Amino acid sequence: MNSLQSRSSLSRNSSHHRGFGKVTKWTATPLGIEGQSEFSYFRISVFLDGVIRVQASLFESFESNPYSVVSSPEKVDFSLTEKDNQLHLTTSTVHLTLDLASFKLAFFDLAGNLLNEDDSLGIAWIGTEVTAYKQVQPLEKFIGLGEKTGNLDRAGRAYTNWNTDYFAYGVGDDPLYMSIPFYMGIHEKGAYGIFFDNTHKTVFNFGASNNRFVYFSAEDGDLDYYFIHQPSVAEIISSYTRLTGRIQLPPKWALGFQQCRYSYYPDSEVYTVAQTFRDKNMPADVIYLDIHHMEGYKVFTFDEEKFKDPKAMISRLKEKGFKVVVIMDPGIKTQRGYRPFEEGLEKDLFVKYPDGKTYEGQVWPGWCAFPDFTKSETRSWWAEKMAFYTEAGVEGFWTDMNEPASWGQFTPNLIEFEYEGEKASHRKARNIYGMQMARSAQEGSSIQNPDKRPFVLTRAGFAGVQRYAAAWTGDNVASEAHMMAGVRLVNSLGLSGVAFAGYDVGGFAGEASKSLFARWMCIGAFAPFYRAHSMINSNDSEPWAFGEEVEEISRNYMKLRYRLLPTLYSKFYSSSQTGLPLAESLAVQYSGDRSVYLSAYQNQYLFCDSLLIAPVESTKEITKVYLPAGEWYYLFSDEKHLGNRTIYQECPLSYLPVYVKSGQVFTMQSDVIHTGSTHDRVLRIHVYKGIFGSEFLHYEDAGDGLEYLTGAYFRRKISYDPKNGSLDFVVAEGTYPSDFTKLKVYFHGFSTDSVSVAGKTLSLQTEDYAFLGKLTEFDPLPEEDHPYFEIKDLPYMEIDHLTDSFQITGLI
Ligand code: NOJ
Repeated sequence: MNSLQSRSSLSRNSSHHRGFGKVTKWTATPLGIEGQSEFSYFRISVFLDGVIRVQASLFESFESNPYSVVSSPEKVDFSLTEKDNQLHLTTSTVHLTLDLASFKLAFFDLAGNLLNEDDSLGIAWIGTEVTAYKQVQPLEKFIGLGEKTGNLDRAGRAYTNWNTDYFAYGVGDDPLYMSIPFYMGIHEKGAYGIFFDNTHKTVFNFGASNNRFVYFSAEDGDLDYYFIHQPSVAEIISSYTRLTGRIQLPPKWALGFQQCRYSYYPDSEVYTVAQTFRDKNMPADVIYLDIHHMEGYKVFTFDEEKFKDPKAMISRLKEKGFKVVVIMDPGIKTQRGYRPFEEGLEKDLFVKYPDGKTYEGQVWPGWCAFPDFTKSETRSWWAEKMAFYTEAGVEGFWTDMNEPASWGQFTPNLIEFEYEGEKASHRKARNIYGMQMARSAQEGSSIQNPDKRPFVLTRAGFAGVQRYAAAWTGDNVASEAHMMAGVRLVNSLGLSGVAFAGYDVGGFAGEASKSLFARWMCIGAFAPFYRAHSMINSNDSEPWAFGEEVEEISRNYMKLRYRLLPTLYSKFYSSSQTGLPLAESLAVQYSGDRSVYLSAYQNQYLFCDSLLIAPVESTKEITKVYLPAGEWYYLFSDEKHLGNRTIYQECPLSYLPVYVKSGQVFTMQSDVIHTGSTHDRVLRIHVYKGIFGSEFLHYEDAGDGLEYLTGAYFRRKISYDPKNGSLDFVVAEGTYPSDFTKLKVYFHGFSTDSVSVAGKTLSLQTEDYAFLGKLTEFDPLPEEDHPYFEIKDLPYMEIDHLTDSFQITGLI
């Protein structure tokens, strides 16, 4: 049977499984192969080196998601041969076989190791639902899939991608707000990634309720996936983010501590909160205006009673070093006379029913229309409207409720979206909606504030959302389990391209205990996005609201984060170039180490490459920490541990277990009260002795604005080479003069008392060094509850900040 059966003739049998059938026709194309089987059309294209796209459709013309993939196919050399009824396609990285009788695909590396192979069921349909069934390789682990609860290794569970507003979700619940249909498989023969580029509701089953296969399926649309193979998990993530884009370098202030509340009002309360940070000497950069800033929850309004003069308020906050981020919800109240509603109707910008009537759903303002963000006119219109906020001085935007959420939480599927001219129902458009709202917010911020970098925070999103916004994990709960689950969510987002992510520190719903809040502030200091937030009608939840002990612990970690800004900023820059996570699950660098997937250790991660964070509940006095291969220094005392083993670590509330990977270099600055305030212009460089060295890319620029794109940065490699016993400073690139006039280099774990700098011998000085301050200001507690760690006699040297290349030698 050569002719394809049309979809309509299928309808009687729609609940039956239909296999792909044998290939009846194929031709070679410049990018690979295309053809048809008894039941389907297909196309296989070599997209980038190490990236192969597989498409299967019931229709002759293939569908393509216009939103996620931003790179075009590159000309990559490959060979194509036919042998024993099999096609063989070989690139410089992957070898693919396609069985012409069954359309079964198998991917190998060039050494012949099997990476991934279809089950004999291959690709199949049930009605419009399309599925790819895959075999599980021995001991295979599955990681990624973005904002998904559960274990780091997703084996045994199934997940649905359907952006969902889920207040106070449980730590195992699914789906949540954001969908990223990308995962990686890791096994003894290698690792690969699969990005299933279909915006419909999709399911990923990693072996739930069956012992035969894993699969991914979409309720409708084509099977369209990118198979990625690279030698390491890190390079797979880099390839995935070459496809879907990377974070833009955010303004530096967005790396600072951010204080949120549902909601701070009136203006006097906003001032008081901001001023309290300053009075209490707690560094912070951002304060949020949640929904009560609006009149009747209507976007693009200020409640004039609560906020008499928003512009004056924001400018006063600016003087204190605070930026204001404002919430924007998509729902536009359907009220005659309300300009945004009238304009949306006039310009035809809202989501509609098929009969042309405006779709309405209820959200905070009551009945609302929903801007169709899949239409470029709507995105531009919204971007223009944002002048309302930017004229008042707002610099950051928070796109919330953009799943889109509405009371009842069950949007009818027939509503229609423009989908860039393709037209799509809610089934296809829902998952992409939130990302397009974030895109519009970013565009608005750039248009209105062309000299500033946008900062957008989004709740909903899809693959590629990292190009437009940072993400946070929505309405979590004040519990120990949530604190740990949040870490995993953020790590998983990092595995899936969303490097700039965080959670509500302290828990959004419910009340945090003192110890929980303190611990969360410590862990959050090592999250890419660091924000405390809590819900309406809950107790005060600012870092001083839990008593002096919590206040001091919080201050200590907030200050540590700010001292680490030179590292943090440099790593954000690197991430914008490589797509790699800032909070990186140990599965990235230690993929083959089974211990990193164990439930006891799966929350551990590397922050900014050099710090291993071992999150632990606040109720524990001692915890087990798994240190992977290598050597590790306990951050606070420099105590050295051999890796590849579990250690028992005391974890009093004031000391979160943090270790430095040996051979690493990171940088710090003196205390500041916000990211824009002045420091002492001494760049502290911490070098940790190790068998393997490392390279630190130091990056500085003005911290905001776009001049860095045309060369106004200060960038140099600092590399530690243990074999040479040297620290090499490569000549600085860029036109931005460094903010630092001196370098102070600290030598951890070295035994030398002198080094050579540019040929001259220099005796090292020593000092007692502490990463955290001593807790002093509350009633004396037993020493064991609050030990104080100091590194005694830490050797260091201080020199002028030379921008030419130079070398420090004698590091032994
Ligand atoms: C839901 C968001 O998740 C939460 O963070 C926010 O405070 C409320 N909406 C109110 O705007």
